[in-house]
Amino acid sequence: MITASRQNGLKRHYEDSTDAVREPCEPKRRQKFQLGETVQRIGLKDEFHLTHQEVLLLHAPKQRYQHTERHQIPLPKNEREMLVKVQAIGLNPIDWKAPDFGWGLPSLPCIGGRDLAGAVAKTSKRASRFRLGDVVMAVSTDYRDSRKAAYQEYAIVLEHNACRLPRTLTPTRAAPLGVAYVAAALSLGICLGVDFSQIDGRARGPDLLKIMRSLDPENFPKDIRTECLEGIDMDDRPRKGDWVVIWGGSSATGCIAIQLAKLAGLRVISVLDQARNGARVLKLGADLLVDRMDTGRAIEIIQSITNGKLRYGIDTRSKESAALLSQALHSPSRPESESVHAVCLTGLPKERTPGVVYHTVPIKVFHEVAEVGEGLMVWLEKLLETGLLLPPDIEVAEGGLKGINAALDRLRDGSVNGPRIVVPLQP
Ligand SMILES: NC(=O)c1ccc[n+]([C@@H]2O[C@H](COP(=O)([O-])OP(=O)(O)OC[C@H]3O[C@@H](n4cnc5c(N)ncnc54)[C@H](OP(=O)(O)O)[C@@H]3O)[C@@H](O)[C@H]2O)c1
Repeated sequence: MITASRQNGLKRHYEDSTDAVREPCEPKRRQKFQLGETVQRIGLKDEFHLTHQEVLLLHAPKQRYQHTERHQIPLPKNEREMLVKVQAIGLNPIDWKAPDFGWGLPSLPCIGGRDLAGAVAKTSKRASRFRLGDVVMAVSTDYRDSRKAAYQEYAIVLEHNACRLPRTLTPTRAAPLGVAYVAAALSLGICLGVDFSQIDGRARGPDLLKIMRSLDPENFPKDIRTECLEGIDMDDRPRKGDWVVIWGGSSATGCIAIQLAKLAGLRVISVLDQARNGARVLKLGADLLVDRMDTGRAIEIIQSITNGKLRYGIDTRSKESAALLSQALHSPSRPESESVHAVCLTGLPKERTPGVVYHTVPIKVFHEVAEVGEGLMVWLEKLLETGLLLPPDIEVAEGGLKGINAALDRLRDGSVNGPRIVVPLQP
């Protein structure tokens, strides 16, 4: 059941994890626009004829995105690219941090936004997993390429970065899933080496570490080779029953990581504001929730429950909480031969704890290495079809592209804590 309430111009959707999204849906049925409607409304045909669109442009750091009426619609450059008519945009923390702090900005002006869902408006000419009109969710980790950004009416999407949506999931519900899913899956699957191919039945996923290590390193960027090839020994990969701590477990990334780790048979401790987000996260399957308000006590609880044997952790929050996670991982009685691993999504702690191997997420693997990108997207299709993965709770912001600046202000001032903001575009 989805219920909605309205607050500060935002529509909040809460979803009960026992509801329809968890119900298995008919597999392999494609979600499509009605053809008549589609051709008329958005020109969905091979002979796609539109040339210009509305976009949001960022002209300089510390400025707001500017609504621009007539901007060229991007063109596919190769057979791996398709054009998607954007129907809903999911907002990520990086969408306001990038302009405010000048992080990860490509040449300016640029188009922002990394999470989108919509309908395939132009396919590649070769055989493809996708057909015209398929409803997909796509993730643009390739932020240097504005053609792939979300804040526009039509975006270029790499086929291996798109996931076809089941009928039970609307673009609005699915749009904010992407970056969180990719970050969570790569943190677990590459940095910590969790082998998703050991999962039984329909939830079986890819062995990302094995895929990466079977490829010619010359085919992927130099700056991620160490993480992907030497980050963790094959012998040190987590086994079923091992504990993993997710500090900031109520974040969108944390919520996906909890679900994927549980599918892989791990035991999960989630550190969060228990009063505010505990009920929501408990439903996702975490074995233990630890309140983050008293951090010293949180570390004591984690060490006591795991009997000083915790070896794996992910921090989704800050350098400070990454340092706290490191303390929780530290155990004086641990044999030197046993390695301990912390994935830090928002930066490494200022002071490193001896014995802890620190990891940063090689996010660009998703678009640079087609085998990994497609493996993750095909797996996600199965997880969504079977209802084994729940997307984040959402708040719907109004105003289309013009509403995005105001919605980002809500992320900036911290007044949205938990749900993801989604901005549907006008049909
Ligand atoms: N490196 C990468 O490639 C990459 C990829 C994806 C995301 N990220 C980064 O990872 C971070 C998480 O992203 P997200 O989109 O998943 O975040 P999000 O959903 O916006 O996270 C919000 C959550 O953070 C929790 N929180 C607030 N203050 C906290 C604190 N002091 N200690 C612990 N938790 C706290 C809040 O829950 P509680 O109040 O319940 O704790 C809230 O639910 C962001 O900084 C993002 O930029 C990096």
